[in-house]
Amino acid sequence: MDVHIPPNAFSKIAQTVTLGGRNETGELQTVLFQRATGARNPKLLFGSPIAGTEETRLPCHPQPSLGNLDLNLSLGAKLGRGSSGIVFEATMAREGTSEELLSSLPPLVVKISYLGIRAGVAHDAYYYDFMQAIQGVSIPRCFGYFDAQLPTGTRLVHWTDDDVLADIDNIRTHPYTDMQYEEPTDAPEDLDFQQFDESRCFVSILVLERLGGFLPIGEPLSDSLLQDIDDLYDDLAHMRVWTSDIRYANILRAPQAPPGLPGRVCPFHKRAHEWRLVDFEHGRETNASLHWHKAFRAGWLRRILNNLPLVFYVNPDSDI
Ligand SMILES: Nc1ncnc2c1ncn2[C@@H]1O[C@H](COP(=O)(O)OP(=O)(O)O)[C@@H](O)[C@H]1O
Ligand SMILES: [Mg+2]
Repeated sequence: MDVHIPPNAFSKIAQTVTLGGRNETGELQTVLFQRATGARNPKLLFGSPIAGTEETRLPCHPQPSLGNLDLNLSLGAKLGRGSSGIVFEATMAREGTSEELLSSLPPLVVKISYLGIRAGVAHDAYYYDFMQAIQGVSIPRCFGYFDAQLPTGTRLVHWTDDDVLADIDNIRTHPYTDMQYEEPTDAPEDLDFQQFDESRCFVSILVLERLGGFLPIGEPLSDSLLQDIDDLYDDLAHMRVWTSDIRYANILRAPQAPPGLPGRVCPFHKRAHEWRLVDFEHGRETNASLHWHKAFRAGWLRRILNNLPLVFYVNPDSDI
């Protein structure tokens, strides 16, 4: 597929995604999501000597013109959750999905924003799009960002699951607030960042390629694995993005191919990476040089990678 179609093509080609829901009286109903646009965080800009002069960012693939294909997804097992949403396995239902998508999409997941707290997933969507050139290289392929206004009382089918309801209620008591940053005083100003408009009955979803499991715990990590992880963050640096969120739960194994799509050769490291990074809710475009990116990430990565073989407290929901 990648040979002919840009990795992010389906965010333009698919216009709607449908998921199952239940109305106030418990009846099953379909929830229709429409293609939407992500929102960026303020840029993280520096003066000299941190600002880089390298021309690093790869041009994006030419985008296809907007299409009107439909994707009908059924949610499966819950794979994870974090501060911006809950991630489920998703499978395409034959009925309601355009033939072109049935024959070309890999195994998928859907990341669903918490009700009324869409900003995290909207930011995520923006950076997946911005880093389109490294989708399938060091971040998953992203097949689009969609939103829906839920009729009063409607819940997505999986929100009726007790475990998920507990997640949602838990997170509602900690509404999304963006991280606070000290902006450097000599930085050029970021004049046009987008404020995200929250409306409580809206929910957003991100459709992503399904990845594998977490880094191994309690065993030595090989030099090539350590190098691969550092290289993933180096790819982000080349794309001029700082994640602000380097953590264990955001590093996942590349999809197994087949049934997944094979990884693309990295334009910067000239080989296919075995791992991928997710979660760009707190992403920031930055003008920091590659050298400063390496310095910024070193301590965060050491904290995770040195602790894993020692089986220190490592939990997907924890800070490391
Ligand atoms: N593409 C994916 N494939 C498989 N699992 C995923 C994928 N994306 C996320 N996950 C799982 O869901 C968890 C939460 O996703 P993440 O994007 O980090 O959300 P949050 O911003 O809420 O932390 C991840 O830690 C991981 O376990
Ligand atoms: Mg996360």
